[in-house]
Amino acid sequence: MAATIFSSSAGEVASSPFGKLPDGQAVTIYTLKNGPTTVRLIDYGATVIGIDVPDRAGKVADIALGFDSMEGYLGTDPYFGSMIGRYGNRIAKGKFTLDGATYTLATNNGANALHGGVKGFDKVMWKGEVVKDATPTVRFTRLSPDGEEGYPGNLTTSVTYTLTAKGALKIAYKATTDKPTVVNLTNHTYFNLAGQGNGTILDETLRIGADAYTPVDAGLIPTGELKPVVGTPFDFRTATVIGERIKETGGTPVGYDHNFVLKAQKTKEPHLVAEAADPKSGRWLKVYTDQPGLQFYSGNFLDGTLHGKGGAVYPLYGAFCLETQHFPDSPNQPTFPSTVLRPGETFRSITTYAFGAK
Ligand code: GAL
Repeated sequence: MAATIFSSSAGEVASSPFGKLPDGQAVTIYTLKNGPTTVRLIDYGATVIGIDVPDRAGKVADIALGFDSMEGYLGTDPYFGSMIGRYGNRIAKGKFTLDGATYTLATNNGANALHGGVKGFDKVMWKGEVVKDATPTVRFTRLSPDGEEGYPGNLTTSVTYTLTAKGALKIAYKATTDKPTVVNLTNHTYFNLAGQGNGTILDETLRIGADAYTPVDAGLIPTGELKPVVGTPFDFRTATVIGERIKETGGTPVGYDHNFVLKAQKTKEPHLVAEAADPKSGRWLKVYTDQPGLQFYSGNFLDGTLHGKGGAVYPLYGAFCLETQHFPDSPNQPTFPSTVLRPGETFRSITTYAFGAK
């Protein structure tokens, strides 16, 4: 039974059991509701497991890929809706040097470390707490111990999800450490604005406020170059149909899996960096962040084999991720913005996904 924990004129939060981990630990689902918009979260991996938003006719659909039960999240899960950390994206050869010490990380993507390692922030339990705010808010907290997946420092991390008065999903990250370390936190929600399981995103449009991107080698490690997007399939400065130039991106598998260098801003406040839209349903998504980069991933590794929510099939290009982040492999790239966090400092970052229909 779902128990309502919080309710105000700006919405409500309810919680109920979602399942169990193999060791018996109970997993809880938190449901944040405001009018027609619903966000579902679980404390395993601080994961976004569903986002219901109406289309232009008022018809509600879940636009986030995911699973119906814990079995799915404990099986082959390509980070559906996951909280990603301690370092989102790749670190070349799972090694970096900081203050003269070399750290060897768990490698889980060929020779490289990806999304925090073998057991990243997406595969651990977080302590969930409903914040009694004016708007529905749930905070997940966890201490990542010194040496976890090879990273130095006890990292106290929280991620706070708020369903705002306007029905946007605001994600606020915070982290502190007791030893110098590197931090790059993001969220890995797979969006299909037509509704999860409803075909591909190839006909959906995307605009990204980036004049350059970071080209990568065969292992998806940046070469260090900031390459202008002009004249390339990575030019999303005006809204473009995602499928239009996808074959020109090359790579194996073919598709977008690149970090965009977001236009520099005068302030550190979150600002609009990307907009996607589905012409058929009218649903749109706007991404606001204070981060310097955005990984646009077009679901190139989806292949129709996973069984998603309600028996949905997720084909190649069945969703896109817009992962707000620092650039991949920053700990080994001295020209990229720094991801170093030191004792006494607090890492804070906010990304908001706003939804609507026109
Ligand atoms: C993305 C990453 C892709 C792939 C995907 C998970 O963030 O850029 O290369 O690993 O996650 O399948």
